[in-house]
Amino acid sequence: MSAEIPLIVYEEAGSTQDRARDLALAGEAGPIAIMARRQTSGRGRMGRAWITRPGLDLALSILLRPAIEPPKAGLTGMAASIAVTLALDQLGVTGVGVKWPNDVLARGKKIAGILSEARISGSTIDYLIIGIGLNVNSVRDDYPQELQETTTSIKAALGIETDLEWAATLILREIATLNRRIDLEGPAFIPALWEAYWPHKGLRLSREGITGTAERIDSDGSLILIDDSGRTTRVTCGEVEPEADPAVSNACG
Ligand code: BTN
Repeated sequence: MSAEIPLIVYEEAGSTQDRARDLALAGEAGPIAIMARRQTSGRGRMGRAWITRPGLDLALSILLRPAIEPPKAGLTGMAASIAVTLALDQLGVTGVGVKWPNDVLARGKKIAGILSEARISGSTIDYLIIGIGLNVNSVRDDYPQELQETTTSIKAALGIETDLEWAATLILREIATLNRRIDLEGPAFIPALWEAYWPHKGLRLSREGITGTAERIDSDGSLILIDDSGRTTRVTCGEVEPEADPAVSNACG
């Protein structure tokens, strides 16, 4: 049994990422988690805003100081997506899987997004903050129209409400277990474990006009695509979509 990660719950925060960063800068060793019942300036990957519906969705950030090499920092975000997948499984949500680099899907729709922010000092990670936005009790009409077809929640999957703190607790237990394993043996196990929850493995994916078969996840978390002429493309950032649904973005961040 791994030590639990303490959870601080705020009524309101601009971004839980910033609250966690403030703790890091004040010398907090971590791991420690921040949750906000109301998040007013949430941010997502690639400079996007992230909307957390108060009382309906979970906004959670975890401050870590992992002893791993900076080029492999992305693996901790992938570990977090595995943790969310396992927690959702425990809650009874079916058809859960991961989408590269670290989204979580339920029946093909996005149920959680993960944002990793790190401060690197030379060859070490000073601190790493993993932000998790999970749709818990929101339903279709709560989302902007353009996201209604591609977004889901625990309530949409189960038909019942889930306590936000309970969802956070389950996720934090899974993260603690994975962290302990990372501390003991390093992060090399993460790509293979992540692939076990990856429904797109072996499918054709597109990114910025490049289409290829999703071959594997490399040791640093990169996505390896093989195009039709057998060429290998390494994708290190951005978004990839199944070929039939090429809503491709070309920004990284
Ligand atoms: C994504 O773009 O898919 C990642 C979204 C991450 C959102 C979470 S909510 C908790 C934490 N605080 C933030 O401001 N962002 C992350």
